[in-house]
Amino acid sequence: MNFIKEINRRRTFGIISHPDAGKTTLTEKLLLFGGAIQEAGAVKSNKIKKGATSDFMEIERQRGISVATSVLAFEYNGIKINILDTPGHKDFAEDTFRTLTAVDSVIVVIDVAKGVEEQTEKLVEVCRMRNIPMIVFINKMDREGKDAFDLLDEIEQKLGLRVVPLSFPIGMGYDFKGIYNIWEKNLDLFSGDSRKDIEETIEINDLTSPELDKLIGEKAAQTLRDEIELVDGIYPQFNKEEYLNGELQPVFFGSALNNFGVRELLDCFVEIAPKPRPKNSEQRLVRPDEDKFTGFVFKIHANMDPNHRNRLAFIKVVSGEFKRNTQYLHVRHNKKLKFSSPNAFFAEKKEIVDISYPGDIVGLQDTGNFKIGDTLTEGEILNYKGVPSFSPEHFRYINNADPLKSKQLNKGIDQLMDEGVAQLFTLELNGRKVIGTVGALQYEVIQYRLEHEYGAKCIYENLNVYKASWIETDDKKSEEYNEFLRVKQRFLAKDKRGQLVFLADSPFSLQMTQQKYKNIKFHSTSEFD
Ligand code: G4P
Repeated sequence: MNFIKEINRRRTFGIISHPDAGKTTLTEKLLLFGGAIQEAGAVKSNKIKKGATSDFMEIERQRGISVATSVLAFEYNGIKINILDTPGHKDFAEDTFRTLTAVDSVIVVIDVAKGVEEQTEKLVEVCRMRNIPMIVFINKMDREGKDAFDLLDEIEQKLGLRVVPLSFPIGMGYDFKGIYNIWEKNLDLFSGDSRKDIEETIEINDLTSPELDKLIGEKAAQTLRDEIELVDGIYPQFNKEEYLNGELQPVFFGSALNNFGVRELLDCFVEIAPKPRPKNSEQRLVRPDEDKFTGFVFKIHANMDPNHRNRLAFIKVVSGEFKRNTQYLHVRHNKKLKFSSPNAFFAEKKEIVDISYPGDIVGLQDTGNFKIGDTLTEGEILNYKGVPSFSPEHFRYINNADPLKSKQLNKGIDQLMDEGVAQLFTLELNGRKVIGTVGALQYEVIQYRLEHEYGAKCIYENLNVYKASWIETDDKKSEEYNEFLRVKQRFLAKDKRGQLVFLADSPFSLQMTQQKYKNIKFHSTSEFD
């Protein structure tokens, strides 16, 4: 059946890394292999170099014109690959977390010299919590870096992964000669002095063969033999099932810039990476091969051009076929909607599509109907789980700076929060609005966008909050809960969805409150079972 064939040939994944590890370069090389782009430099970096708002705005503006960079799709050996872009900057980590709810697997890029960095740790933790299958790519082998075994140790310890190298470097930096592919049992050698090109891949089924000494020299050959023996001894055998369950992570070495080790990564990826996986909803587990369409919004992209206020909502198709000009139920609004020009994404462009399959991302023009996490179905009441909010790290009051524009301000705040730019909390005590963000940069972005897109002016005022905890109780009538509501009113707020949140002003006060109200649950994310 065509439908099943289409599902089985889709691989939807994200590349995650600390900024500068080589995510953009790797993405580009993958697209080159897929023939989706013709030259390097076509993929726009989403990097915020100086951490400046103007940088961010520039990137957003470019994306407004070419939003295709949010999803890059290409075909490779009959497989349809969808790469979902994830911002590397830590202030936009929440955006990345949300995108991770729409991927079926990830590739983690690590810089051989820098090793495991802060953002990698955070993002991998989220993937680990969700058992997302991960492949690790250790990049920049053409540079001097850490010893391969030390780095593998570091990855196991800092990231909590169980690794299995499927390729191994022969030397590094100046002495980098190439890569032995444990997975395919062959060698890729750098050619000549330029060390820019790969010589033909050479089959070496038996590492004891004297051929190896001839190719890379006796010393390097012996080192490689010893190292591969060590690899065999220390690391587990690769097992696809364990990888798919998130219990084992294959590792590849290479140099994205020099296009080295990338093909091996891609070939292994298309062979082992998962096809679209079933997804949990609040009501039930939904399988991709079910007849009826379901999907959810994981990202909303604003159009930065004030003359065309339309936004683009990105939907991940979970089950069934999404068809153009067909009525679907917007579950939260209990409203039927029809889409005349849904977009599909390719390497450098977006196009109107008639039909999309599970694993695909569809872009829908939106005038304000959607917010992150919304579910679309053919009529079933279903709410997809897994687009949680984490506690912001910064909290500020947002005040209106132009009394004549309060309507615009409220509308702007509302829409920006729907997009997931930041989180809004409304204090129970006095109804004041508090904006919570992951990084200070987001405050500038919000201020800028409120002014330029909505004509509203805001000013911020500091507020001392350490952390937001989402509150749950089994018994809203209990004396304990009502005392908590009364005594802690000053620290209570509602989030955008109307859930009750406790805004502790210090770790100490959070701990004391938790101890005092033992039957109340304090969750660190907005979603809990
Ligand atoms: P990111 O998206 O993860 O932030 O990283 P990006 O690909 O932009 O790469 C960061 C820098 O590392 C770039 O240099 C890129 O050329 C370089 N790079 C990527 N892969 C390799 C590699 O395998 N070997 C070496 N030696 N360098 C690599 P840049 O100077 O910051 O940017 P550019 O001006 O060259 O674009």
